[in-house]
Amino acid sequence: MNDLMDKIVALCKRRGFIFPGSEIYGGLSNSWDYGPLGVELKNNIKQAWWKRFVNLREDIVGIDAALIMNPKVWEASGHVANFQDPLVECKKCHERFRADSIKEEVCPNCGARDSTTPERMFNLMFKTFIGPAEETSNIAYFRPETAQAMFADFRSVLDTSRLRLPFGIAQIGKAFRNEITPGNFIFRTREFEQMEIEYFIPPPKQDADWQGVFEVWRKEMLSWIKDDLGVNLDKIHEHEIGTEERAHYSKRTIDFEYDFPFGRSELYGLAYRTDFDLKNHERYSGQNLKYKDPETGEEFIPHVIEPTWGVDRSVLVVLLDTYNEQEGRVILKLKPSLSPYKVAVFPLLANKPELIKEARKVYLDLKKDFMVAWDDRGNIGKRYASQDEIGTPFCVTVDFQSLEDEMVTVRDRDSAKQDRVKINELKEYLTKRI
Ligand code: GAP
Repeated sequence: MNDLMDKIVALCKRRGFIFPGSEIYGGLSNSWDYGPLGVELKNNIKQAWWKRFVNLREDIVGIDAALIMNPKVWEASGHVANFQDPLVECKKCHERFRADSIKEEVCPNCGARDSTTPERMFNLMFKTFIGPAEETSNIAYFRPETAQAMFADFRSVLDTSRLRLPFGIAQIGKAFRNEITPGNFIFRTREFEQMEIEYFIPPPKQDADWQGVFEVWRKEMLSWIKDDLGVNLDKIHEHEIGTEERAHYSKRTIDFEYDFPFGRSELYGLAYRTDFDLKNHERYSGQNLKYKDPETGEEFIPHVIEPTWGVDRSVLVVLLDTYNEQEGRVILKLKPSLSPYKVAVFPLLANKPELIKEARKVYLDLKKDFMVAWDDRGNIGKRYASQDEIGTPFCVTVDFQSLEDEMVTVRDRDSAKQDRVKINELKEYLTKRI
């Protein structure tokens, strides 16, 4: 890892954003747990996404499906046959690698030359068994993408809603992949979260029909990065995936890549999945998955455009992009709507009961509407620094003057500017700025 990644990992551990998973047992390689601040940041990202793409739209509805689906789903989707990476093993150190990670026939672990076994294909789906008997007939899989539930539930959503094409089904949830080479903190893990939309359209009469929808989603994804994550688009690059590299279901894929400290890598993806999934599910399930046009009575299998977002990669990009150091101090310039705490409340001095009493009143009142931190340790400068490091956009100090004039000092994280604000106008003041 490099310098910035090391700093982010250290900050996350120090302040309770993200810890190594199962740490008291020596950890579990590449597993990470979100701590009290991390879960707030992650939830804020998921909530912003759900609000933007589900709540504020008329044409997209959400679902929350089971993680373990009927194994036939994965036969129909092509994952049993195709969701695999080429694997090689070093005969000397017995480490296993994705074949494409071996450069010039040198083992990346022990440096041995020409030591790798021939490639064999390795399916990335996590297997489990349903019921007490571990027999082949009981094999099931943890879903490797949330997407298939949108196809498997397509009929039920259609029958229970008044949706008309074009429309989308959205979901946020965990996905599991037995990655051969996980790494780079939360960038590639074996258990992660996705936010996905399957956006169904009528079968295109010409390429321009699906291309137009694809273009709309391309812009939506860029706007999400800029406006909702507050991430600089300078570091985002669109990568057109070639035919050879595309997933088995896709006719066109764009990856949105970010300049991570460890190199330019995929953040999100956008794919035209055609009617591949619904067609196969109709064939494998024997159920009618056609859409009936209410005007013409014509029946057909819709096609689908799929924008997909990794939640954990969103968290990582937000942390990397907002990390700043000023005079040796860390400031996380998070968009206020994403910050774990929106505001911190401090009594100027911790040993003055009248100040504590007034500050607690302000704190408890703000808590009804915002995530609020309380800090009465050390001097005010240290408390500001501590809140800057976790991205809290505003700090409120209750001082002796407050007891007389019912006003407090509000300090802005990014400008360090201080305003004197009436206590009964604090909520409005903060709401406006968050
Ligand atoms: N339904 C399409 C699909 O799953 P994908 O490109 O394989 O496409 C979508 O995954 C997104 O999920 C990626 O763009 C990335 O953000 C995230 N993702 C994929 N594998 C991941 C992993 N091992 N760890 C963390 N995030 C991952």
